[in-house]
Amino acid sequence: DVPVVNCTWEGQRQCHLQLQAHTCSQGQFPITQNVTVVEGGTANMTCRVDYNDNTSLQWSNPAQQTLFFGDKKALRDHRIELVRASSQELTIRVNDVSLSDEGQYTCSLFTMPVRTTKAFLIVLGVPTRPEITGFTKPAMEGDEITLTCSTSGSKPAAIIRWFRNDKEVQGTLEVNATGKSFTVRSSLQFQVDKGDDGVAYTCSVEHVSLSSPYMTTEVLEVHYAPQLKITHSLIIPQEGQYFKLECVFIGNPIPEPVLWSKDGGDLPDIERMIVEGRELTITTLNKTDNGTYRCEASNHMGTSFAEYVLFVYDPNALGQHGPDHALIGGVVAVVVFITLCLIIVLGRYLARHKGTYLTHEAKGAEDAPDADTAIINAEGNHVHAEEKKEYFI
Ligand SMILES: *[C@@H]1O[C@H](CO)[C@@H](O)[C@H](O)[C@H]1NC(C)=O
Ligand SMILES: *[C@@H]1O[C@H](CO)[C@@H](O)[C@H](O)[C@H]1NC(C)=O
Ligand SMILES: *[C@@H]1O[C@H](CO)[C@@H](O)[C@H](O)[C@H]1NC(C)=O
Repeated sequence: DVPVVNCTWEGQRQCHLQLQAHTCSQGQFPITQNVTVVEGGTANMTCRVDYNDNTSLQWSNPAQQTLFFGDKKALRDHRIELVRASSQELTIRVNDVSLSDEGQYTCSLFTMPVRTTKAFLIVLGVPTRPEITGFTKPAMEGDEITLTCSTSGSKPAAIIRWFRNDKEVQGTLEVNATGKSFTVRSSLQFQVDKGDDGVAYTCSVEHVSLSSPYMTTEVLEVHYAPQLKITHSLIIPQEGQYFKLECVFIGNPIPEPVLWSKDGGDLPDIERMIVEGRELTITTLNKTDNGTYRCEASNHMGTSFAEYVLFVYDPNALGQHGPDHALIGGVVAVVVFITLCLIIVLGRYLARHKGTYLTHEAKGAEDAPDADTAIINAEGNHVHAEEKKEYFI
């Protein structure tokens, strides 16, 4: 009868020297490792034994079919090749791995009894490049749209992230298993407004099988009615000056042309008024130019207008009754009057009280470094307040 010896790591070398290799291999299990491989890649499955006396090693697949028995190929699958077969190792290679290759592989050492070890082949499914659907180009302001980004074939399920320009936004996630892999979808639902015009929506797919995320970007185009504003070249337009109004607008499509009108009618046909696209120039302002000016623009989304009320000041009138001059004059007059009154009152008072008077000035204030200290020093000092003599000359 052959003795069964359990070889421990520490004892193995000695055990090998002392006992027959045959005996030693009785107790050991083959050593394998789990293998993770990206779909389409190559998986090397290695099985080792530390001591062996030519006992055969075998690899079999999850369906229990023998792939290799020693260096002998058992299964007809051109993707499976032998890498190395020795008494201590059996390494095989599976090329072009597919998701269906995933599972539990077994390495067996044909001792009595047979010793087996399992190894998992984990296959990562590579996600497809993301696709964005739901784009209507262009979208109309006010439309309710749903952008959906989808990727399929990932295992484990890929992660989808949305970015509005560079800022991340939250989508609604949906994951469906299709066979061994997953189809992942993420949707963004919103009402478009003009602020979305030209905004880039990016869908990013992250997965363990990808060294950098897959990204797809769509730039939203939004049609919206024009928005107008009139800017003017002078704050206080005066007669004789050069004056310019500009109709500033946004809108998609770009609204053209810009229509100018005055007081609800056409612009007066005078040489001093020049219209050039969005600009209206009055070369020499005249009082007769005052009134309400309107610029109007439209595109297929609508028509909008902006208005400016022109009041032409008379430069002469401004000079005579300038509000600032009148105000300053008034203030100066009041100040002079009050000062005079004070001098008179004070003069009379002092004349009457010519002589001595007690200062209510606290003594502490004299040598205090600051106001606070002065107040503190002043507490209780009134008793010592000196009688000061001052003379009014
Ligand atoms: C191998 O993979 C299986 C299944 O994923 C797991 O249960 C086991 O712990 C793994 N073994 C090692 C050594 O990582
Ligand atoms: C303004 O217009 C009136 C009538 O057109 C003209 O008589 C007057 O001289 C003009 N004033 C100036 C400052 O140009
Ligand atoms: C134009 O200006 C004159 C005085 O400068 C004023 O009497 C008149 O009401 C103004 N007209 C309009 C339409 O503003």
